[in-house]
Amino acid sequence: MERTLIIIKPDGVQRGLVGEVIKRFEQRGLRIAGLKLMQIPRELAEEHYAEHKGKSFYESTVNYITSAPVVVMCLEGPNAIAAARQTMGATRPTEAAPGSIRADFGLDISRNIVHGSDSPATAEREIALYFKPEELISYQRSSDVWLKE
Ligand code: CMP
Repeated sequence: MERTLIIIKPDGVQRGLVGEVIKRFEQRGLRIAGLKLMQIPRELAEEHYAEHKGKSFYESTVNYITSAPVVVMCLEGPNAIAAARQTMGATRPTEAAPGSIRADFGLDISRNIVHGSDSPATAEREIALYFKPEELISYQRSSDVWLKE
């Protein structure tokens, strides 16, 4: 069982895609362990994107992610990180696989609708940035037995 951190970015919220994005992760089989609407404070965004500090897109990415509300989710399931990344598609929407969220709804790398953790270490770090332990709930759904052998 793995956990990953997903953010529906300001473009996803403003374009009314919250339900559509959550639906795709849910129908993939991923289970919601935590979910909230928030506006990310600048300090938190800088910490989240610290690895990109100094890159050309760092400032604009931090400005953008803090500009309007986002929906933050912790999803869990077998291979949750890889599965969520596949459901999202490649960072650049024009390189994302057809049928993925970014290919179906995006055009530009700076407005790519959704963020997802890219490794187990990143997931652990990012989940801790956005959720207190008591905000995450571990539970079973009756469908879980049909999702993994
Ligand atoms: P995300 O998965 O949130 O991680 C970093 C974000 O920076 C990325 O998605 C993009 O939205 C944004 N970004 C903007 N320009 C670039 C770029 N040239 N390369 C990578 N990420 C970029």
